[in-house]
Amino acid sequence: MTIFEAYNDCKRQLQAAGIEEYVFESKQIIRHITGYTNAQILTKYTQSLSNFQRDNLTAIIKQRLIRYPLQYIIGKWNFFGREFFVGPGVLIPRSDTETLIDVCLESIKKTENPRVLDLCAGTGCIGITIKGERNDARVTLVEKFDEALTYTNKNVAHNNVDVNIVKGDVLKTEGADGPYDLIVSNPPYINDSDMSTLQPEVTFEPTTALAGGSDGLDFYRHITKEYKQYLSKYGTLAFEVGINQADAVAEIMKENGFLNVQTRKDYCEIDRVVFGTVD
Ligand SMILES: C[S@@+](CC[C@H](N)C(=O)[O-])C[C@H]1O[C@@H](n2cnc3c(N)ncnc32)[C@H](O)[C@@H]1O
Repeated sequence: MTIFEAYNDCKRQLQAAGIEEYVFESKQIIRHITGYTNAQILTKYTQSLSNFQRDNLTAIIKQRLIRYPLQYIIGKWNFFGREFFVGPGVLIPRSDTETLIDVCLESIKKTENPRVLDLCAGTGCIGITIKGERNDARVTLVEKFDEALTYTNKNVAHNNVDVNIVKGDVLKTEGADGPYDLIVSNPPYINDSDMSTLQPEVTFEPTTALAGGSDGLDFYRHITKEYKQYLSKYGTLAFEVGINQADAVAEIMKENGFLNVQTRKDYCEIDRVVFGTVD
């Protein structure tokens, strides 16, 4: 079987299984099994796959047909131009979260050596990206679960950034000593009823990264109330929120005395980030 035949076979099987991004995914899979870049694939498409590569392809397609996430199969994923290791036990970075990075970078634009706290860090994609974009920032990442922390640590090393990692429970306000110029969080925010209707791929991601309590707002209430005292004068609190949560989260922030509370839309025009300042 040539690379071109393998690509077509992969596309056909993924499409038949109803996988929406079957073209994009097939390209990623072929790159993964051959180790070639897109440009190399274009020149080597008549080359035959080795037995190992064929077996690997068969195994990967089988995993995708049960909706095991492509990102876990490949083992790494791109976020804001950087590579992050991913796998079972950690949430896969989403492009929606890049909007949160934009807001964070704007909020610390005029602050030298800003102190930044990333709560619920997972892969570390938020804190690591902020440090990567602002080398003078002093960044702390807080994560509770060991499975996720394995990836936080690996990604800090892989991206070669100097940040502080704390194993801590955000719901017990652990990991803070402040004052911070920016506290940012993409916490678990799926409500109980939506937890039973997740996309098949999402069911392979850790429940601990998804479930945010009966209305999905537990972490927003706690972080807003308990971490406010750790913000510096004019410091910013910025959250990623789920679909239809922006108004409720903005209300929680206003009730807790935050000022200039604003919402920012993601690339799909969904209200995705809520942020405000203490002064
Ligand atoms: C929605 S994921 C976000 C991960 C990453 N920040 C991102 O944007 O992709 C939430 C993360 O919070 C962690 N987490 C859940 N409960 C926590 C708690 N009580 N304290 C600290 N981290 C927690 C989960 O393990 C998970 O890594």
